[in-house]
Amino acid sequence: MAQAAKRRSGQSVPDAGEMHDLNGLYAAFAAKPMIIGHLGQSIDGHIATTTGDSYYVTGPENLDHLHRMRALADAVIVGVGTVMKDDPKLTVRRVDGPNPVRVVLDPEGGARKSATIFRDDAAETVWLTRETIPSGEEPIDFVHAAVAHLRQRGLGGLFVEGGGRTVSLFLAAGLLDRLQITVAPVIVGGGVPGLSWPAVPRMADALRPPCRTVAMGQDVLFEFDLAGAPNEKGAG
Ligand SMILES: NC(=O)c1ccc[n+]([C@@H]2O[C@H](COP(=O)([O-])OP(=O)(O)OC[C@H]3O[C@@H](n4cnc5c(N)ncnc54)[C@H](OP(=O)(O)O)[C@@H]3O)[C@@H](O)[C@H]2O)c1
Repeated sequence: MAQAAKRRSGQSVPDAGEMHDLNGLYAAFAAKPMIIGHLGQSIDGHIATTTGDSYYVTGPENLDHLHRMRALADAVIVGVGTVMKDDPKLTVRRVDGPNPVRVVLDPEGGARKSATIFRDDAAETVWLTRETIPSGEEPIDFVHAAVAHLRQRGLGGLFVEGGGRTVSLFLAAGLLDRLQITVAPVIVGGGVPGLSWPAVPRMADALRPPCRTVAMGQDVLFEFDLAGAPNEKGAG
């Protein structure tokens, strides 16, 4: 607990330069331990191609943004699908700042141990399975158990960086304070879906939380404020 709080209090708020609209968000994340999800998607709704290639959907300004968010987070969370496909480092390299704790959600415990985050010593990696954190049967039960476990360890500021299934589960569990979707002007034609959410029959029933947009080079980031959004929809 003390370690995360200390890191947070000593963390200066990154400066987004010309993308000054983002500075308010960074200040809020630095001040308060929120849970924020992010996905970078094509204009036709994919976060990776049919082969799972996602390097890169969005442009360099959005990558800088991701690294600023990592630097402010106590922990960055990804699903095992992302670890297996991308073998990410999940460290802060494009901006100044400390590396967050890296968390892999892997209920069935199938992650490949040769993945970089399990082998390097750039930052701590926490591997969460049904064995390490007992939870109920439903996918969102596991997500709730994971957040409770991390909070117990003093990790309150969480950045959920993908993939689509993991961010969707956090949304369905009602755990996200903010959701960021960065849309890139690229057409992929098919591939890994971004958000999934239960279908509604009428537009009037659609989830339409307060939203602001920030231009990031050619991309546009949509940031949804989910405080007060309905809790626990049945994504699974
Ligand atoms: N553009 C972007 O922003 C972005 C970001 C990250 C990743 N990606 C891309 O997205 C793809 C991976 O995304 P994805 O949606 O397929 O996978 P994912 O969200 O990374 O991982 C999903 C998998 O994690 C396990 N899992 C995690 N939490 C779970 C829970 N609560 N309940 C049940 N299972 C849980 C399940 O694995 P099992 O089914 O094996 O149990 C599930 O299939 C990759 O191609 C990657 O390149 C893109």
